[in-house]
Amino acid sequence: MMQDVFLNVGTTLLSKEQISIRIKEMAKQISEDYKDKNLLMIGVLKGSVVFMTDLMRALDINCKIDFMAVSSYGAGTKSPGNLNILMDLRKDVMGYDVLIAEDILDSGTTLSKVKELILTRKPASLRIATFLDKPSRRTVDVKIDYTGFEIPDEFVVGYGLDFDEDYRNLPFIGVLKPEAYENR
Ligand code: IMP
Ligand code: MG
Repeated sequence: MMQDVFLNVGTTLLSKEQISIRIKEMAKQISEDYKDKNLLMIGVLKGSVVFMTDLMRALDINCKIDFMAVSSYGAGTKSPGNLNILMDLRKDVMGYDVLIAEDILDSGTTLSKVKELILTRKPASLRIATFLDKPSRRTVDVKIDYTGFEIPDEFVVGYGLDFDEDYRNLPFIGVLKPEAYENR
C-alpha cells in the first residue's frame, strides 16, 4: 500500500541501518560521559521523540526523562528570540545533569532560547544532543555537545521530523521533494 502523502518523499538521506549504528555510538559516548552523573534527558516536543526514545534505550546508564513543548518566532520574523512555552517541564531540573535532545538544529534560535531558560533553573550541568545539524543555516551560535549527523541544507522528514505534521513516523530520513511545498 502506498499512500499519496509518501509520493513527496524523494531520496533517502539516512537509512534505518545508518541511524541505528549512529545512535549506538552516541549512546556509548553519553553513557561514558554521564556514568557518575545524574542524567535527566529533556525532549523538546514533538520532533525529538523518536531520537530520544531510541537514544535512551541504547544507554547503559540510568536516566530520567521529561518533556517540554515550545514554539519560537522564526529567524525571519520581526521578533526573533521570543520563546513561547506551550508545555513546561514537570520536573525541577535543579541539581540534575540535563541533556537536551533535539531533532534538528537549523538556525539555532529555538534551542538557544530553551537553553537560556533551563540555565536560569540551575541544573548541575547542561548539554545538548541533536540528531541532525544543518550548520550552513546557523544564525545563532549554539554549542552542540553531541551530533548525530551533519546534513546539507535540504528539507528532510522522518524519524520524528515533520512537514505540516506528516512523516514523523517514517523510520528513515528522507528529503522532501520541492513539489510538496508547491502542492500545498
Ligand atoms: P531553529 O530554531 O531554526 O533551529 O529551528 C529548528 C526547528 O525547525 C526544528 O526543531 C524543526 O522543527 C524545524 N526544522 C528545521 N529544519 C527542518 C527540516 O529539514 N525538516 C523538518 N523540520 C525542520
Ligand atoms: Mg517541526
